[in-house]
Formats: sequence, C-alpha cells, structure tokens
Amino acid sequence: MSVRIPQPPTIPFIGNVTSIEPGSPQQSFELLAKKYGEIYQIDLLGNKLIFVSSYALANEVSDETRFQKRVAGGLWEVRNLVGDALLSKAQPEEPNWGIAHRLLMPAFGTIAVKGMMEEMRDISNQLILKVLSFSQSHILIRRIDIISQWERFAFQPVALRPGLILLLDSAPTLSSTLQMTLRGVALDTIAYCSMSYRLNSFYREGQPEFAVAMGDFLLESGKRSARPRVVQAMMRGTTAKYQADIKLMRDLAEKIVSTRRENPIPKHDLLDTMLNSRDPKTGQAMTEESISQNLLTFLIAGHETSSGMYLPSRQEEFSVFTNAQYRNDLRAQIDEVLGTRPIQYEDFASLPYLIAVMRETLRLTPTAPGRATSSLEDTTIGGGKYKIKKGEMIVVMSGLMQQDPSVWGSDADQFRPERMLDGKFEVLPPNAWQPFGFGARACIGRAFAWQEVCLVMASIIQRFDLSLDDPSYTLRIKETLTIKPADLRIRASPRNTGV
Ligand code: HEM
Repeated sequence: MSVRIPQPPTIPFIGNVTSIEPGSPQQSFELLAKKYGEIYQIDLLGNKLIFVSSYALANEVSDETRFQKRVAGGLWEVRNLVGDALLSKAQPEEPNWGIAHRLLMPAFGTIAVKGMMEEMRDISNQLILKVLSFSQSHILIRRIDIISQWERFAFQPVALRPGLILLLDSAPTLSSTLQMTLRGVALDTIAYCSMSYRLNSFYREGQPEFAVAMGDFLLESGKRSARPRVVQAMMRGTTAKYQADIKLMRDLAEKIVSTRRENPIPKHDLLDTMLNSRDPKTGQAMTEESISQNLLTFLIAGHETSSGMYLPSRQEEFSVFTNAQYRNDLRAQIDEVLGTRPIQYEDFASLPYLIAVMRETLRLTPTAPGRATSSLEDTTIGGGKYKIKKGEMIVVMSGLMQQDPSVWGSDADQFRPERMLDGKFEVLPPNAWQPFGFGARACIGRAFAWQEVCLVMASIIQRFDLSLDDPSYTLRIKETLTIKPADLRIRASPRNTGV
C-alpha cells in the first residue's frame, strides 16, 4: 500500500519557499532530509520536487530503464551559455548530445587522458613554483570584499605574513589576487589540455577576465533559477551583466575554434578531435556552435568540481591535510613511493592511500552534491510505498545517500579512508558511491579529474607542510553549482626534503 510522501507545512501560493535559505539551498535540502527521512517533497512556487537520500531509493531511481536525467535549477540556466551541450542536454530530441558523446568518449578515456599527463604537470608545476617563490619572502595577502548588493569588489590588503597561503576557497566572489587557488589549477588544466589554450592564471595579477566572467555567470545562473520571473524582469542591470558575461565567454570560445580551423596545429587535443572526427553512428561532424558550447562545458563542469576535491568541506576532514595521523600516513606513502622524484602515471597504482583519501572525500562531500532525474512512466518506488508521476523531478542527494549506514555502517558519517582500501571499494553495492553521477549521463571527465587531482595532490604533499592558516576557522559552506568550504585558507611551507 502506498503512503503519502512527507512534506513540510506549506504557505498558500508560495508553498515551501520559506523552508529554503536563498544562498544555501543544498544545506536547506539536507536539513529537511534529516527531519523528514529518506524521501520528502517540497513545493517551490508551484513546482514539485521530490528528494531521496537513502541508498535503497537512490539505487532504485538509478535504473536507466525507468528514470532519465532531468536538467533543472541552475543547470537549466547554464543552457543560456552552452545550450544542448553534454552536461545540459535536456530533451531526447536534442541530437547534439549523442554526436558529442560518441565522438568524445574515447578522447576522455584513460589511455587518452594518460597522454595528457605532461600538460597537467606543466600547470601543476606553475602552481608549485609560484608557491615556492613566494614562500621565501613575505607576501601580501588580500581579500576581496563584497562592497555592495550589486556585487562589486574592493581589494583590501589585510595582512603581511611570512610563508605562503594557498587559498582554497574557489568561490567566484571570494578569491586571491595572487591566483594561488586550486580553481586556477583546474581551470588552466582543462583549458590547456582540451584546446591548448593558456589562461596563465599564475602569471598575472588578478583572475583572467574569462575566469571572472565564468564565476559570475555560474553564481548568477544559480540565483536566477530561484527567482520569480517578475522579479527577474525588473533586474535589468543584473541581466545586462549576465548577457555580457555570456558574450565574453562565447566570443573567446568561437575565436579559439575558428583560429584552430584556419591554423591547425600538430597536436591531437580535444578540440582537434571535435573538429576532425565524425560520429561513428551517424557519420555527422559536430557543428562549430556545438564545439564551442562543449569547450565551455568542459570548463564549467570540470573546474569547480575538481578544485573542490582537494579539500573536503566537512570540519573533521580538514585533518587530511592538517591532522597529524592522516597527513603522516599520506606523506609516508608518497615519500616511500616517490622520494624526491616527480610523480609518474605508473605511480598512481602504488599510492592506494591517496586514492582512498580521494574516494572517501568524494563519498562524504561530493562536490556536485545532487543530481536530478525523473520517471519515464507513472510508477512507485520503495517497494510500492511511494507513488511517483511521470516527469516529476526527483533529486538524488548524493552526499546523504553515500552516508547510509545500511551500506557504510554505524560510522558512516566519519572520515575513514581505510574503508576504501584492500579491495573494499571494488565490492561496494551498485551505485553506493556515485559522486560522478551514473549511467549514460555520468561524468565524461572522471578519468581526467582523477589523474589531475592525484598529480596535484601528491605533488603538493610531497613538497609542502600544510596547516590551517587560522586554527579557529569554523566551517562555512559556499554553494554555486557545487559546494566548497568558504574563505578557508591553508598555509603551505616548503619541506626540507630537497625535492
Ligand atoms: C557530468 C561530477 C570533473 C565534464 C557530471 C556529473 C557529475 C559530475 C555528478 C553528472 C551530472 C548530472 O547528472 O546532472 C564531477 C566531479 C568531478 C568532475 C565530482 C571532479 C572531481 C569533470 C571534468 C570534466 C567534466 C574534469 C571535463 C574535463 C563533465 C561533463 C558531464 C559531467 C561534460 C556531462 C556528461 C553528459 O551529460 O553527457 N560530472 N565531474 N567533469 N562532467 Fe563531471
């Protein structure tokens, strides 16, 4: 017999809008899940959303014969820039996704990504060299403060300190003028590997214009998805800025594509694949518009997700870098395998603890904390308990689902890399670990992200002592399309290892 899906009390016309904090919807959804259980529904201005957070229900709605990805919320707004490219393709009748997917899958495979190792190292070395050069002198750390509701920024020197601070807050509105952010590494790496374009984040004061536009665009896309249309219509200045950011990014991507078409280079990168390959199924080539849109998609889908992986968002997990036990275990293995030499692709297999730390990080704090799906037909889930109508939006809360005690045990909410070691990861139930999504619409950049983060993380731990800049820092989470710790600063001091 079916039961009613729980719902918080509603207010006429606006439903459950007041249950959601505008700046932190994800955290509001998680609080509601803790109160209402494995499934609940809310009404946002007439739109019904169903949230599932237990392993059993998430696994059930991961059945591609019954459910398909739904593009909604901030991701729907991202279509304003990238249309029906890989991440944001919404309807079955949008054919560009299929062409791009089939054509690009091999180019994102492990063998192809292995061939990008030296380009990734090039960017990672830029970060390390810059950190080393700054760490020998005093550095001026600056903070960007939001000075008005229109989101204009003021640069204010706040301290002169010895050593270097890596700013891990990758949020678009709070960043470092020194560009030491790992967001810079992620963005530069994707731009360089995918289209041989150097954003040169580490060779300039302030962020590249493109990176600023992308950050602002993503933030505003998230806000637009929660705004009533009538309010949106009145925000002409904000809309003009949004359109200008879109134009800036589109113009650059189109220029890169047309320049390459006219002046080919002897390098087989992702742009080359898109320009010169054909869809094996239809024989069709990608259009120039679709190529530009997919290049922009790689930058969007890859940079905040990958950069968020370096540091988990939960307070306890800061210990990976700053708690003696985790740091020492990680470092001991890296020292034993690498000594002072640069990491090679073949070393990854000899660094199981590093891999376990990354897997456990993405289990507890998947940087993309939710994904939307919907049923292809009217159906029930939970053994006939909950009725779901065709097309209703279901949000899988990956972060909570990946802490279900039925899979992970009574310490499911604790950070324990050991649970990913010694073959335990390989025998997990299907879909229990899903930070990269699932099925046909799973992350195409998984091998890319994994290799990049392994390389950068191992190189940083090999060379630096890391600690919280402010030991009294209390966790605050910043939400855009992804989640990350807000305004968190990590101090990096070179180790005396001769590396
Ligand atoms: C899709 C996570 C890195 C490109 C996804 C999805 C997730 C995800 C959860 C599915 C989204 C959904 O169902 O709506 C991550 C995480 C990453 C990462 C956690 C890093 C730790 C990357 C990188 C790239 C990339 C580096 C590109 C270079 C994409 C694309 C899609 C996607 C194009 C859409 C695939 C499709 O719909 O066909 N990613 N991602 N991702 N990701 Fe990633």
